[in-house]
Amino acid sequence: MKILVTGAAGFLGLRLIEALLQRGSLSNRAGNAQPITRIVAFDRVPLSGIDDPRVEVVCGDIADPEVLNNLIDAQTDSIFHLAAVVSSQAEQDFELGMRINFTATQNMLERIRIIGSCPKWVMTSSVAVFGGQLPEQVEDQQVWAPQSSYGTQKAMNDLLLADYSRRGFVDGRSLRMPTIVVRPGKPNMAASSFASGIIREPLNGEPSVCPVPVETRLWLMSPAQAISNLIKGHELPAERLKQGRVINMPGLSITVEQMIDALRRTAGDEVAGRIRLERNPAIERIVGSWPGSFCATYAKSLGFTADHDFADVIGQFMAEYPPQVA
Ligand SMILES: NC(=O)c1ccc[n+]([C@@H]2O[C@H](COP(=O)([O-])OP(=O)(O)OC[C@H]3O[C@@H](n4cnc5c(N)ncnc54)[C@H](O)[C@@H]3O)[C@@H](O)[C@H]2O)c1
Repeated sequence: MKILVTGAAGFLGLRLIEALLQRGSLSNRAGNAQPITRIVAFDRVPLSGIDDPRVEVVCGDIADPEVLNNLIDAQTDSIFHLAAVVSSQAEQDFELGMRINFTATQNMLERIRIIGSCPKWVMTSSVAVFGGQLPEQVEDQQVWAPQSSYGTQKAMNDLLLADYSRRGFVDGRSLRMPTIVVRPGKPNMAASSFASGIIREPLNGEPSVCPVPVETRLWLMSPAQAISNLIKGHELPAERLKQGRVINMPGLSITVEQMIDALRRTAGDEVAGRIRLERNPAIERIVGSWPGSFCATYAKSLGFTADHDFADVIGQFMAEYPPQVA
């Protein structure tokens, strides 16, 4: 089986490739498990840390149609499309966001339509497609009303994928991901970057700023759950997707205050004391427009799963990235 992963060098892309290599097989459109013989790992930047003969690293700009022509061919059985620019970046640079987050997806789908091979396709949408007046817990039928360019681009992708799937051009699945924490490394330009930062930086002995009120409720998922759900999304037979190709993922609903409490319980007062509250209106506006809780009834009926305890999520991070200071 030949699999294309875009955004391969990113937070989720790298983890997904590791998980696919370890798993060794995926089911094809007929539902039969097939060995993974080749993973085309595509990103703008080279990916590091994976040394496996099944992985072919390809670097390029996903917005370049020429690049896509070489990337996707009739042998491409499955695509995990993860490449994107994050929310604040797409808000600051409208053209970049449109080009990478929307036009590239459209070009990829067009390339697939022209080839006519109808591969499986899994992509990551976002809770940022929702906004405006929202109930406390968002139902699957909630009308989309993005309050950011990133959310709008994700919503447009969702619509396109649903229609290309309805027409039989692609066998698509779009998973509406919660904010994924705890992300390792440096802060990024996602408006939700602080959700990882308020855990990661204090654990590493560094100060961290929380830019939203502590009552803000977030919808979260751990990296391990995200990868397991991405693979689950691929493996589901198309016949089971009766309520559509766009699926709100289950998640963990938690306030920032509860996150800080969990950090305090797990790592102590001194660590939690490294968080400074300093509101940032731009971030507050974007993050405050996102729902903090979903029913995710459809996803649960399909077998997607969520984390249940934020302390466990912190524990997973600490096990994978032991704190740099005691
Ligand atoms: N991490 C989250 O909390 C979260 C939540 C919801 C949805 N998502 C979505 O999941 C996907 C993966 O997220 P992530 O956290 O791994 O993001 P990430 O930023 O770590 O990875 C995205 C990758 O896309 C690549 N990329 C950007 N522009 C490109 C271009 N022009 N050509 C080729 N590659 C390019 C980047 O180099 C990066 O490696 C994204 O689509 C994101 O919108 C993430």
